[in-house]
Amino acid sequence: MCGIIGYIGNDEKKSILINGLRELEYRGYDSAGICVLENGELRNFKAVGKLVNLERKCEDFFFNGFGLGIGHTRWATHGKPTEVNAHPHFGHFSNVVHNGIIENYQSIKERLQTQGRTFLSQTDTEVIVHLFESHLETSTSVLEAFSQTIAELKGAYAILLITQKSPNTIYYAKNGSPLIIGKGEDKLGKEAIYFASSDAPLIGLANEVCYLEDGAVGACEVGGFHMLPKIKPLSGDKLSAQKDGFTFFMEKEIYEQHKVLLETMMGRVSEDSFSLEELNGLDFSEVESITLCACGTSYHAAIAGSYLLERIAKLKTKVEIASEFRYREPILRQKELFVVISQSGETADTLEALKLAKKAGLKTLGICNVDNSSIVRQSDFGLLTRAGIEKGVASTKAFATQVMVLWILANFIAQKCGILGKSEIQQQTKTMLEAVRTTKVDKKAHEHIKRLSRRYLHGHGFFFIGRDIFYPLALEGALKLKEISYLHAEGYPSGEMKHGPIALADSRLFCVALMPQNLLYDKIKSNVEELSARDATLCALSAEYYEGCDDWIKIPHTSHYMVEFFSMMVVLQIFALEVAVRLGNDVDMPRNLAKSVTVE
Ligand code: M6R
Repeated sequence: MCGIIGYIGNDEKKSILINGLRELEYRGYDSAGICVLENGELRNFKAVGKLVNLERKCEDFFFNGFGLGIGHTRWATHGKPTEVNAHPHFGHFSNVVHNGIIENYQSIKERLQTQGRTFLSQTDTEVIVHLFESHLETSTSVLEAFSQTIAELKGAYAILLITQKSPNTIYYAKNGSPLIIGKGEDKLGKEAIYFASSDAPLIGLANEVCYLEDGAVGACEVGGFHMLPKIKPLSGDKLSAQKDGFTFFMEKEIYEQHKVLLETMMGRVSEDSFSLEELNGLDFSEVESITLCACGTSYHAAIAGSYLLERIAKLKTKVEIASEFRYREPILRQKELFVVISQSGETADTLEALKLAKKAGLKTLGICNVDNSSIVRQSDFGLLTRAGIEKGVASTKAFATQVMVLWILANFIAQKCGILGKSEIQQQTKTMLEAVRTTKVDKKAHEHIKRLSRRYLHGHGFFFIGRDIFYPLALEGALKLKEISYLHAEGYPSGEMKHGPIALADSRLFCVALMPQNLLYDKIKSNVEELSARDATLCALSAEYYEGCDDWIKIPHTSHYMVEFFSMMVVLQIFALEVAVRLGNDVDMPRNLAKSVTVE
């Protein structure tokens, strides 16, 4: 959600900024802009829509000399996605880009307007640059004026500001939204400084980085990087972030699940034991219950995890949607382990829920895909999911690895508390490996789903149904489909059909039924029969043919429901992908969505 980029050095500014923004495209945006300070003059370019529009706007502009620039992809919050509302926003001699929300912008704006300052946009961001220029009239230095400006802002932000009054420096502030400063070398072999809202644009350019903490306000110029706190090396492979010959990142990410799941297990699962070194110091005899808290797909992984934790580790587990949890004055008990789950580690609602639990004195654990993200940094304990960079806005491999981590965690606790004997542990680890193998996409099976998808484009909606741990998988199947196909889809526990939803059943209702052989098969079969009797169009996912279905997607035979869970997960992801492709949608960057939701 919104992306920020900044650069100081000798390389060509426009391409550095636009390439950087391209690496942030996966976060979602609806307009973009850059500003370069070239020989004392500010050059500002903006465009609505994709980056290619911005490139057209500045195709004749190049700047190779020493200088600096900032860029931004905007996901509209205050004001429509128009060119005027796109960042950077400018005053008389400064430009600013911002991620997040300035909550008190209205009162600041009114005050500045009475002082005669004119606003062009409807955004909250524009107040920053005018407030800064107003402070500069009375301040003794640019940094002082910038700090006074930041001190007045309420809300979440990552901010970069450049000004003609200080042509070698980028001013930055961070509170609640991610911001990283990196150091590398430009083509002349001289120090270059980079700013970005995630690692992705920095890989291959910066070799050292500083992940700014909330409250950071400062100025950075060439030669000043080493004064930043907690500098770390940045490693990473640009190739892994590319599409590897697939048309969409989402497809590539579905196909790499069997590899990343092994990464997730590495060093944590051996033939006859589970080990989670990251949890050393966490005393499970002190844990009476677990709360799992997350949003979206991560929330679905949390529900799946709750079945595993109760069934395997025998620990009472509840699941919370982070955005609800924050405001409902929840009762928190000291012996409750509070676990937040997030792909990005920057989701504002999840992060705030984590802070609330910490404030109440609970032990916290972050399950996350991004090392050094806010959630990892702020949790007492952290478990990385190791899915690698996920670029498709619709989460796939991150979900798979979240479920895997929760499954490992359930087994680890059960082992620690003496609930599982050696042979049961061996059985679990064997099942895990079988589950991983089943996520390797079979090209023929993919083709079959692709062909079948053409029959699922024109109904009046979809039900995805499942029982037990297949219920959160049904929720996830429905979310995947609606995110990228824009078709209406809902996930339900199949036993709920008769309590209302079945009223929608007719031949134009598509029903995707998750029918595992190893968990409550007869129960779900009865629910599916009820739908079939009402003429719903049924697509069954199961190992055995079910005679009441219209379409059958065959799942490999196995003796464990978790293997069926992971096979069906892949089928649902491919099904959503193929329906969306047929509808001509941008699978990797679906409308209205952002990869990292850093605002409330
Ligand atoms: O980064 P997080 O896992 O915290 O993100 C939570 C949700 O915003 C995210 O899962 C969202 O639902 C995705 N678009 C799912 O595909």
